[in-house]
Amino acid sequence: MASTKIVLCIVFFLVAYSHSQDLPAGEEALGTKKYEQYESPTVCKSCHDNFYEQWKQAMMSQAYTHHWDEIEYFKLAVPHAEKDEKVAGVKAGCNGCHAPMAFMAGIVPPPKPEENTRANESVACDICHTIIGFKGDIPHNFNYISNPGRTKYGPKPGLSSPHHDTEYNEFITQSEFCGTCHNEMSPYGVWVKATQLEWKEGPYAKEGVPCHQCHMPKAKGKNAKMAKEDIVAQHLFHGAHDPGKLASAIELRMNPLEREVPYDGVVSLNVQLFSAKPGHKFPTGSVEDRIVWLHVTATDAEGKSYHLPVDKKSFAGEEYTIASDVLAYQDMGIALNDPNFPGVQRDGVPIGDRIFRMPYFDPQGRMTIQQWNTKSFGVDYRIGPRETKIETFTWQLPDDIALGKVHFTAELNYSKLVKPVADFLKVPAEESETILINKTNTWVEVYD
Ligand code: HEC
Ligand code: HEC
Ligand code: HEC
Ligand code: HEC
Ligand code: HEC
Repeated sequence: MASTKIVLCIVFFLVAYSHSQDLPAGEEALGTKKYEQYESPTVCKSCHDNFYEQWKQAMMSQAYTHHWDEIEYFKLAVPHAEKDEKVAGVKAGCNGCHAPMAFMAGIVPPPKPEENTRANESVACDICHTIIGFKGDIPHNFNYISNPGRTKYGPKPGLSSPHHDTEYNEFITQSEFCGTCHNEMSPYGVWVKATQLEWKEGPYAKEGVPCHQCHMPKAKGKNAKMAKEDIVAQHLFHGAHDPGKLASAIELRMNPLEREVPYDGVVSLNVQLFSAKPGHKFPTGSVEDRIVWLHVTATDAEGKSYHLPVDKKSFAGEEYTIASDVLAYQDMGIALNDPNFPGVQRDGVPIGDRIFRMPYFDPQGRMTIQQWNTKSFGVDYRIGPRETKIETFTWQLPDDIALGKVHFTAELNYSKLVKPVADFLKVPAEESETILINKTNTWVEVYD
């Protein structure tokens, strides 16, 4: 009896396994399904009211409709894909992650958000909860396997629902699940999004802390109106669009090497930046858009202020990590039909400030915010998980410095999108506002 059961189990497993291997994933999945095979989030809402409202507030529900996504896709990516054979695939490909149901249904490009089609459902409940695994060795470029139907796959075995079947699937509890959309390889074969790969190399993977622990924290509650109380995964997916998630992502301290300095002397400051919160590099994800900069100022005893430029460290490619007045992003001219487009300001932050970034380069070696047109990278000067970076500032006191205390302030600022690019493309200002990550102070005494 027992052996028959085991054989049956093995047969069942093999059938299920071979079936899942037959399902297409990644680019091959384009147009292999119909919208009707996926249920709408409003259906789930009637029982999973709390998760629905959480998801609604998260970027997941806006991945197709959000203004900057719409602008980048329709103004830059689609026209570029129609002109350049090498990147032609992104016209469909962007949707594999941002509007997965439209991608599966083969509706490319999907109608604009204002037309209110099902593409607007973005990364919906029924996309994530019908994923059964991924195809290939490394999760990336929407290579998740989608198996829509009556069965919803979740993190717990043995739950029952009046609306659907439920099945436990370990995959949904793993960071690789997130990696299918949070790792992206450009048509030129480089990792333009690597959040899961960064996590995997860092301390949190080693300690068994998946993405979920920080972005879907667990708390006592119910996962459906009629369910029993349990410990359930909150659907927050809070990231760069939540100032609270960004707040103190990096801890900041600063000290002078000498507390007392003669009026004609030199002040030396050390600023320590410790990445306490992120499970990956900071910034991560849309690294081509994000900018993080350290701004240090001094105020003397009479209230006069000065801006301190960071000391150079002289590593290769450092010029991209110190704010300056140069132009970049000329490749936007391809989509905009302006081959001589001069570009816009590269940084848009105070000249001399340290920038924590990794520049993306187009095939001509120019800095780009178009991740699909990225062929190589400059120096990776981002802050790794639990890494500490030290920046130094050497400041010759100005001739007219007042005697007494000089106060120094260091601010670490963040913007989701480089401001000159946002202004040029008319992206709403909230996308390029300056967000304070952290702030610290110190002082020296200037004597005669
Ligand atoms: C008529 C009510 C109802 C509707 C509609 C509904 N569910 Fe459920 N769902 C439940 C109940 C009840 C449970 C079991 C909860 C429990 O026992 O903790 C459940 C459980 C789940 C689970 C957990 C499975 C696990 O293994 O942890 C997932 C995932 C899920 N539902 C997804 C969905 C999705 C996606 C939709 C919309 C397409 C949906 N549900 C629509 C009632 C519903
Ligand atoms: C130890 C906690 C922790 C873990 C683990 C973690 N994150 Fe994060 N994540 C954060 C914090 C804090 C932020 C906000 C600061 C930042 O942008 O890095 C963040 C930001 C993000 C962002 C927004 C980045 C941006 O610039 O838009 C994404 C996307 C993200 N995480 C995805 C993931 C994924 C996917 C994983 C797993 C592979 C993961 N995170 C693991 C803490 C964590
Ligand atoms: C981006 C993918 C994603 C989306 C979108 C998503 N979920 Fe989930 N959901 C998950 C993951 C991952 C888990 C498991 C978390 C864990 O156990 O750490 C989960 C868990 C659940 C659970 C079980 C919670 C528990 O801990 O018992 C339910 C129920 C559920 N989701 C319903 C929904 C509903 C309803 C929606 C839409 C309003 C939705 N999910 C949208 C990824 C997603
Ligand atoms: C089906 C694809 C898909 C899967 C699977 C997926 N994500 Fe996402 N996620 C996206 C997209 C697309 C966005 C970008 C939304 C936007 O801003 O346009 C996003 C945004 C986010 C953000 C918000 C970033 C911000 O700017 O605020 C976080 C955090 C995040 N995801 C975490 C996760 C975690 C954790 C998992 C796994 C449990 C996961 N995602 C699984 C596609 C996915
Ligand atoms: C492999 C999945 C994937 C593909 C393919 C993809 N994206 Fe994304 N995209 C994401 C994820 C995940 C995020 C969120 C990362 C983060 O928050 O840092 C994101 C973020 C963005 C953002 C920034 C959103 C914000 O609010 O700051 C824009 C704009 C965007 N994508 C546009 C596109 C366009 C246009 C394409 C096609 C050329 C594309 N994406 C292709 C997964 C993908």
